[in-house]
Amino acid sequence: MLKRVTTCLFFLAAQAAFAQTGTNYDESKVKPYTLPAVLETFSGETVRTKKEWEKKRRPEILEAFRREVFGRVPDKRLPVRYEVISEDGQALGGKAVRKEIRACFSDSPSQCMAILIYLPKSPQPVPVFMGLNFEGNHTLYNDPGIELNPRWMRRTDVRGVVNHQATEASRGTLYGRWQLEKLIDRGYGLVTVYQGDLELDRKTRSGDEGIRSLFPSSGQGDEWGSIALWSWGLSRVMDFLEKDPAIDKNRVALVGHSRLGKTALWAGAQDQRFAMVISNNSGEGGASLARRNYGETIADLNRAVSYWFCPNYKKYSEDPSLLPVDSHLLISLLAPRAVYVASATADQWADPRGEYVGASLAAPAYRLYGLKGLDDKEMPQPETPVSSLAVGYHLRTGEHDINAYDWDNYLNFADRYYQAARLSKRK
Ligand code: GCU
Repeated sequence: MLKRVTTCLFFLAAQAAFAQTGTNYDESKVKPYTLPAVLETFSGETVRTKKEWEKKRRPEILEAFRREVFGRVPDKRLPVRYEVISEDGQALGGKAVRKEIRACFSDSPSQCMAILIYLPKSPQPVPVFMGLNFEGNHTLYNDPGIELNPRWMRRTDVRGVVNHQATEASRGTLYGRWQLEKLIDRGYGLVTVYQGDLELDRKTRSGDEGIRSLFPSSGQGDEWGSIALWSWGLSRVMDFLEKDPAIDKNRVALVGHSRLGKTALWAGAQDQRFAMVISNNSGEGGASLARRNYGETIADLNRAVSYWFCPNYKKYSEDPSLLPVDSHLLISLLAPRAVYVASATADQWADPRGEYVGASLAAPAYRLYGLKGLDDKEMPQPETPVSSLAVGYHLRTGEHDINAYDWDNYLNFADRYYQAARLSKRK
């Protein structure tokens, strides 16, 4: 009970730090808005086929997100060196294998990321969920074999973090968010990296630490923000996974909570090797519509965490209707791959309805591929997931978080989607 109350207080406090007085939480005060059509180009041409979508509309939407929202990944390939940090063939009481791999982009230890991989033992390549974590790989499971992340942590005095540094007491403290054993028991692996291995989550960028300094800076309005950099990191993890015969590279699902849910959506939009994207409570700048004035706004993001986005994003603080894109277009970029959006009732800051509508309005892109979206479904009541084969949504009772209930639904959705993909391949 005490724990629940403290978590509650923590979320309220965290939200208060971002929120501005005047945030609208009243549905009757949502102003009417007009969204850009999914199947109409910026110059007004109608898109009728998947070929036209892929040639014209999809690239221009991607480009608009790059230029105006997340920023552009600099055009430079970095050499990578991999080394094994540790391996355990008998993890989780013998039912899984664990490995941790260091991928280095320079000779400096500060420009390496540690990739933690747990796989169920299986004669076949296994599907995996993959996502960045908030406080280090060691928080996923209380296993002394996992390297304790030595970097700065954004949150301190919680979960064993002292002076922004993890301690032994931090191990396994975010187990609830990953549900590792559940995944392994259902036949899925889990791959994760600490977001701070790529770039620390803070306004003041720290010189040579992190990956950013390995790239030239454009110094322009489309300079990449942290979300773009974290997304770049997810693609580099995928480069590694593709080489691992124990992993089914056609069944790699991205998953992310909150700011890392925004990151998962953007990574999946840019890199079509990902088969599925799960956006958990990603909110503004993620699955929820910017044009709905409910909960967090672009102005709030630009005020508190502008470094997540590119400088051009500031142009839309005053009037989001000037933005050429919105969340339904971000989600459309995932078509025909699978996407699942989830909200929580007490997470009004993230605008659950805006997340649902964002997901459901991506349907026209799915239709081009002969797939259904959520457009024939009403926004569901809590604990009543809705989905077509490729697009899913649920609203969970409770706080801004990711927990066992969320994972049960992600696993069910993934089972159905992969099963159908297998059957259609056999035909
Ligand atoms: C803040 C922020 C959100 C973000 C969230 C998180 O609440 O305003 O946009 O999604 O933090 O990442 O936890």
